[in-house]
Amino acid sequence: MEIGIDKMGFYTPEFFIDMEKLAEVRGVEPAKYTIGIGQEKMAVAPLSQDAVTMAANAALEVLDEEDREAIDFVLLGTESGVDHSKSGAVWVHRLTGIQKYARSVELKQACYSATAAITMAMGHISLHPERKVLVLGTDIAKYGLNTGGEPTQGAGAVAMVLSANPRILALDTDSVSMSEDISDFWRPLHSDYAIVDGKFSNQAYLNFLADVWGEYKQRNNRDLSDFEALCFHVPYTKMGKKALKALTEQASEEDAARLMGYYEPSISYNKAVGNIYTGSLYLSLLSLLEQGPELPEDARIGLFSYGSGGVGEFFSGKVKPGYKEHMLKDEHEALLNNRRELSIEEYENILQQALPKDETDIELDVLETTSGTVVLKGVQANIRHYGKN
Ligand code: COA
Repeated sequence: MEIGIDKMGFYTPEFFIDMEKLAEVRGVEPAKYTIGIGQEKMAVAPLSQDAVTMAANAALEVLDEEDREAIDFVLLGTESGVDHSKSGAVWVHRLTGIQKYARSVELKQACYSATAAITMAMGHISLHPERKVLVLGTDIAKYGLNTGGEPTQGAGAVAMVLSANPRILALDTDSVSMSEDISDFWRPLHSDYAIVDGKFSNQAYLNFLADVWGEYKQRNNRDLSDFEALCFHVPYTKMGKKALKALTEQASEEDAARLMGYYEPSISYNKAVGNIYTGSLYLSLLSLLEQGPELPEDARIGLFSYGSGGVGEFFSGKVKPGYKEHMLKDEHEALLNNRRELSIEEYENILQQALPKDETDIELDVLETTSGTVVLKGVQANIRHYGKN
């Protein structure tokens, strides 16, 4: 029985800034951001969008009544959790109208946890093939104003319905993962902003990639010639390029050219959104499947997931014939093209806003213009109130 990704939804807030304009205000050569970092636009989340609302909005794009009945597991991967105790998945379960007899759980391991959710989903479906699992990767990447990480922020969520006999990507059971306790990036409980040792995190990412790829090749007796395309965790698109270069350094010309040929379509969405942490690898996969040419039947895609701290995993899947018919390319292009550009001043104001850290109630100004978007409306008596605007 094949198990894999049957549907893919995506949401990003309706505000963005232009990276060249950010560079000008920061006194940086614009090419550093657009070429050196590889980002064109950066999504900005207003206070009324958080990890829960973005995940719900991504899921609402794809769920139909049959999914709502068949899903009995909601797995939400995030490092932007909104409560120390209650899982964001419980709110998403309610906001998306999934039937009551379902489990709802949140997973955390920096940018990696949606990949763990996929592994759990596969195990669950192999035991209960008639069931489906909703997997979400949802985050707001925030390093703060005037920091080294500032040009690598972003916000958004990817929602995936996993099922037996998937229509988009059948996942293999070939994955190789590794864990190592390092301090390249983390966010202490007291802080709204991530702490990062940027250069070390880049190197750690590449070290994990080399390690799991080496082990993967050995265990599965595969090499680059077995892959039509590769997708990576994309904290910023230049990182994806570094990863691809590292893997193809000793590849044949033919393999290197084929794999490099898919790089641009695989980062098209990431370039316009920025880092969405847990969803970044899956946004790159979505971008490849929607913006790339139709992949040959049964083409194998290799996927590298990395979460600082750190856990890495290399795994793969084969595209299903006719997968393009099940992608929402037009909707995702419209989502990105209909956003409103913020001035750098507006962005700076939004980035510094935060919910009260004490017991004060708050009613939020909901900035979203699209009706039906799930938003955080406010907090009363310490309870978050979510609903459609
Ligand atoms: N034109 C073109 N490229 C330029 C440039 C210009 N005018 N000026 C600089 N660059 C290039 C640099 O050569 C460098 O390229 P390289 O990475 O291929 O060497 C790149 O732009 C970044 O410059 P650098 O000086 O290294 O940037 P930085 O010190 O500001 O840090 C990050 C960049 C990514 C480390 C930083 O933004 C960060 O910490 N981000 C968050 C952490 C992260 O995302 N880690 C990823 C692993 S999970």
